[in-house]
Amino acid sequence: MTLQNVFINQQVPDQFKMKDLLHQDTYLLDGELVNWNGETTQVYASIYEENTSGELQRKLLGTVPNMRKEHALEALESAYNAYDKGRGEWAVMKVEDRIKCIENFTTMMKKTRDEVVKLIMWEIGKTYLDACKEFDRTIAYIYDTINDLKEIDRKQSNIQLESGVYAQIRRGPLGVILCMGPYNYPLNETFCLLIPALICGNTTVFKPAKYGILLLSPLLKAFQACFPKGVVNLIYGSGRTLATPIMESGKVDVLALIGNSTSANALQSYHPKKNRLRLVLGLEAKNPAIVMPDCDIDLAVQECVLGALSYNGQRCTALKILFVHEDIVAEFNAKFVAEVSKLTYGLPWDEGVKVTPLPEPNKPAYIKELIEDAAAKGAKVINPQGGETIKSFVFPAVLFPVNEKMRVFEEEQFGPVVPIVSFKDINEPLDYISNSNYGQQVSLFSENPNSLAPLIDLLVNQVCRVNINSQCQRGPDVFPFVGRKDSAMSTLSVHDALRTFSIRTLVAFKSNESNDQILTELLESKASNFVNTHYIL
Ligand code: G3H
Repeated sequence: MTLQNVFINQQVPDQFKMKDLLHQDTYLLDGELVNWNGETTQVYASIYEENTSGELQRKLLGTVPNMRKEHALEALESAYNAYDKGRGEWAVMKVEDRIKCIENFTTMMKKTRDEVVKLIMWEIGKTYLDACKEFDRTIAYIYDTINDLKEIDRKQSNIQLESGVYAQIRRGPLGVILCMGPYNYPLNETFCLLIPALICGNTTVFKPAKYGILLLSPLLKAFQACFPKGVVNLIYGSGRTLATPIMESGKVDVLALIGNSTSANALQSYHPKKNRLRLVLGLEAKNPAIVMPDCDIDLAVQECVLGALSYNGQRCTALKILFVHEDIVAEFNAKFVAEVSKLTYGLPWDEGVKVTPLPEPNKPAYIKELIEDAAAKGAKVINPQGGETIKSFVFPAVLFPVNEKMRVFEEEQFGPVVPIVSFKDINEPLDYISNSNYGQQVSLFSENPNSLAPLIDLLVNQVCRVNINSQCQRGPDVFPFVGRKDSAMSTLSVHDALRTFSIRTLVAFKSNESNDQILTELLESKASNFVNTHYIL
């Protein structure tokens, strides 16, 4: 069977048709949607179509501004002035009022669901169901964040007395946040940074991911309408051109980036006052699965297929290498290949589709390189159609036997290639994990508590989440999402992100007759947003 029908034909369902080009000709600066008359960049779909001469080409979706250093600095200045060194309206506003702004924003955002979901599908090739999930998960995340902040605020609404000193301890904002999300979750992960950053009283400059840009267009008006001027600034263009001068200015307090360590390392190095810079980073990972001989093989196969190939393997949490015990590797491989063969390929709106086109233009060539390198060093593609490529579409390749000489053993493929390594001694996968540059998660497959227990105790010190008989994943979003070594800095989750984007700060005074009287009057007057015992319900 050869791949076919992975290009647009006449059957695009009406609800998913891109009727017109979307020209994003404004950007959000200092509370205004400013008209852009400068150079633009064309935004292409992950999906190819046949042009009038019968050639295949990525479908053009629209254009966005290609902004320059001076525009980036203007946006920074706007966020910097809005924060006003902690004296700005947003930073000193009552938590309750900030929550209202976020709620208004979310109400407006919900109305954009169909449009945003459609753009997620076209731009980054996510299936309809996954695109809906991304949108709905983001809405749920915002409401969970609001509820968590209310809970935190209620706990902070008491005055403590310790050793004769009264104190009210709250969490305060950090300042100006430069916020950049990844292309694989261009809405959800960006908002998992942006929303907690905003609700804590920070101001932001926000640059969309490299792919998945136009899907923010339907939200620009909501940002403009719901936040005071300068609190959210949205700029378009190359990360290097825009983020470099922003970091060099020294006016950024937090670099919040989900992406790769090369950019993260470069950007932090540009900041002239490194001690002032807080880093919130989600970076690379190479999460392994260890499949033990005493596992339920069918379950292990099912979870490993999901873990390795959901959204074509383009998840930082994806299982990127499978270590399978030699006693069961033949059976595991046969069942794994059978399951991969069942994955339906096609376009994001096709029913039941699992394998879709890739948004990064260079990814198919990179996947090919990994396969050729592994093949030259003794591995085979063991599944039918594995690695077969047409333009942006690559059918997943299962490689076996993989060894340490192959690039795919170490490199984070972030795409549809599954390397399988056979092991005899458990120290082989354990050494791999200990020596890896990454430390995000691992999946362990075994039905025997006695096999699992010692591994769990070793692995919790190597990675930040050990998944038992389950694929690796970020959710549920209330659980901490973090990594060791080169995989992350700071913890994200509904609750942890609120801590990450704020700092504990307190108002304290010695208890004596005069101070106690002042405090009583201060509380009764309800004049301070910080010192008060009001409960947000
Ligand atoms: O790409 C990295 C994401 O954080 C993965 O999230 O496990 O929910 O797909 P997920």
